[in-house]
Amino acid sequence: MKNIRDLDIKGKKLLIRVDFNVPLDEQLNITDDIRIRGVLPTLNYALDENAKVIIMSHLGRPKGERKPQFSLAPAAKRLSRLLNKEVVLAPDCIGPETKAIVEAMQPGSVVLLENLRFHAEEQQNDEGFASQLASLCDIYINDAFAVAHRAHASVVGVTQFVEQCAAGFLLQKEMDYFHRSVSNPMRPLVAIVGGAKVSSKLGALDNLMDRVDKMVIGGAMANTFLKSIGHDMGKSKVEDELLDTARELLNKAKRLGVKLYLPVDCIVADRFEARAESKRVTVQEVPADWMVLDIGPATTVLFSEAMESAKTIIWNGPMGAFEMDAFSRGTMAMVQHVARSHALTIVGGGDTDVAVHKAGESSNISYISTGGGAFLMLMEGKKLPGVEALEAKN
Ligand code: 3PG
Repeated sequence: MKNIRDLDIKGKKLLIRVDFNVPLDEQLNITDDIRIRGVLPTLNYALDENAKVIIMSHLGRPKGERKPQFSLAPAAKRLSRLLNKEVVLAPDCIGPETKAIVEAMQPGSVVLLENLRFHAEEQQNDEGFASQLASLCDIYINDAFAVAHRAHASVVGVTQFVEQCAAGFLLQKEMDYFHRSVSNPMRPLVAIVGGAKVSSKLGALDNLMDRVDKMVIGGAMANTFLKSIGHDMGKSKVEDELLDTARELLNKAKRLGVKLYLPVDCIVADRFEARAESKRVTVQEVPADWMVLDIGPATTVLFSEAMESAKTIIWNGPMGAFEMDAFSRGTMAMVQHVARSHALTIVGGGDTDVAVHKAGESSNISYISTGGGAFLMLMEGKKLPGVEALEAKN
């Protein structure tokens, strides 16, 4: 994969795909701008080279309709503040008006195109739409790791119509860290996998099992594993249809010599509510009409011991319902242990980044991925279509 530095971009029209799919509150204020900050190195480099910087992104899922609540206006405003520079928001991402705005650009100026997903053709990877995007530029740069798992027009199709294509610094960095953590890790490599469902992480669990030395499983998905070995999990979330699959994964771990850690105690509640009555029990003692909402203190100690000798740790998914303070202790304790570890630590997807930010430990993690689905797809051992498209250009 070529990188933006490999190309002569001086004074050229650069079409840069970013992922400004940022969370907004009801007043359309950005509540987390990490994805915007993440592409500043690429944008600043392009501006230092006096390129004409044309940025494109999606926001949310407007399903091909022009819905004002999905406008990229808040992102344009935030970007302008971060770059300390005017950012012109084009009213559309294609069409004569957009073309005219781009043609009038001066070197070192910035235009953000309006939401790509206002056109259904974006998600259809439509050739005509991709070629219209391509017609805006001399060079295409993909710096949108978080959407690199989508074979959309601005991610894949556009590369067919632009001769020179390369990755931006964020995409490059994400791929490098992932490679260092999973494909070519310093060992022991420990994977911590949490979150609600085994079903959504089945591919990742299966692929990681072939690569890791130790696997720590927490969150509601651990309930399915615990039930598969005979524990009664009361009213907890369990995917009964996956009990056999869970047993197969446990057998696979045994066969491969992977040390697998499951919770030994947990915090149970009488209902799924912040003010629910709760108590700590061992996994053998989950009351019939209570549900598991967090890992317990003994499990935290066990999991931290599993991490002790690690040289690389990859973590996806919380240990419990951490959005409710009463059930956040397990996840927060894991953040502390990962943050204090001397290992290379990579965190990504499934709200794990949110937990790390909430604990104020972001600066003590080696790398926090900006990707959710894209990170998971890499954990599944699959190639990202956006990356493949760039590789094909070499
Ligand atoms: C994400 O937030 O994971 C990306 O922006 C992709 O968004 P999507 O799931 O709507 O394609």
